[in-house]
Amino acid sequence: MDRLDGPPRLILVTDLDCTLVDHDDPENTDLLRFNALWEAHYRHDSLLVYSTGRSMRSYLSLRNKKPLLTPDIAITSVGSEIAYGGEESMVSDDVWVARMGEMWNREIVLEETSKFPELEPQPVKSQEEHKVSFFVGREHAVEIMKVLPGRLLERGVDVKLVYSNDYAFDVLPKGSGKGGALTYLLEKLESEGKQPCNILVCGDSGNDAELFNIPQAYGVMVSNSHKELLQWHEENAKDNPKIILASERCGAGMIEALQRFNLGPSVSPRDVLDTENFHVEVLDPAHEVVQFYLLYEKWRRGEVEKSDKYLQNLKSLSSPLGMFVHPSGVEKLIHEWIDDLDNLHGEEGKEKQFRVWLDRVSSSLISPETWIVKFDKHELSDGKVRSCSTRVLLSCQEEKEKLTWMHIQQSWLDGSCSDDQEKWIF
Ligand code: GLC
Ligand code: MG
Repeated sequence: MDRLDGPPRLILVTDLDCTLVDHDDPENTDLLRFNALWEAHYRHDSLLVYSTGRSMRSYLSLRNKKPLLTPDIAITSVGSEIAYGGEESMVSDDVWVARMGEMWNREIVLEETSKFPELEPQPVKSQEEHKVSFFVGREHAVEIMKVLPGRLLERGVDVKLVYSNDYAFDVLPKGSGKGGALTYLLEKLESEGKQPCNILVCGDSGNDAELFNIPQAYGVMVSNSHKELLQWHEENAKDNPKIILASERCGAGMIEALQRFNLGPSVSPRDVLDTENFHVEVLDPAHEVVQFYLLYEKWRRGEVEKSDKYLQNLKSLSSPLGMFVHPSGVEKLIHEWIDDLDNLHGEEGKEKQFRVWLDRVSSSLISPETWIVKFDKHELSDGKVRSCSTRVLLSCQEEKEKLTWMHIQQSWLDGSCSDDQEKWIF
């Protein structure tokens, strides 16, 4: 959370499965649309929070399968764990861990729940220190929910029960849950003088309901929401104008909410990419780099005609003297690398799966005319993701009213290697 100096303009809190991540879309279209929008227009002054029922391990394995951006905060195991920062520097919130331990005793929970034969334990990988999870049908769940908390309380254990998707039953410490964790985070931000201007919560199922109970928050139930969430809304929040049911699925529904609540830009750079006029209208370094890599993606996917004009336009964005230092160490003029792109136009759909997305875009003005933009660049090609850390020097020449690429430097990120380097350009 320390990444931002002041209060965040927006905190966007989203569930993953069937909210940000559409498991029915192997192309990840809306997730990639959301990513481009977030990096171009929100990353610099807003906070991205994932809130998932998955354990930390399971969340990290999803990140390996789907093009998910690095969040500022990850709330896992239905709000019972909170961690800050990206993978390489992830820090768990020990204050929260200690709070989860109050009036909680896993052994007693196991003992009391074992008295209900209908509760079928979820696999070991879904069990955590502060989360005991089962599978059970709705009718039984309703009955058990009436008696279990009382029995546990008699033994000094205060719990929260969460039922989701007509099968998942979680027993958690009382203060936990997605709502409990978010309330805690908001209090923490407030105590640091960083109260967010706006909050948007996004979800699709039972364990998300609590998020919609946060009084200050706007909320979007994506169009594919589970009926249990819609029913909860009907019974508890029907008259709250800050909560909407989107007309679009998953990530598209989230973008729709940004627009309907007027929370900031709501047009993804993926939706407006102008393949004729390459210059971004506003001088915005983050938007500039996002757009450049989308133009590159379009070429590699063969979504634009193979014409010299396109490459000339791409060249017009950079200085004729600008250098690109490839992660292998090879150094050439940016314009020479663009010439090499000629062979990599994805004609005949050969590169149909090719995708590029940027993560953690940050920029700083290092002189009145010069920006340094840093980001992680991920490229999916031939079914494999390769990643590198990138720095770009952009110069703003006022009379031209545009940003000019002066220098690009990349280095491989962990695990990415250089087996077919000739295909890695930019
Ligand atoms: C996720 C978790 C599961 C939990 C469910 C509902 O699917 O893996 O353990 O029961 O969310 O919260
Ligand atoms: Mg979900």
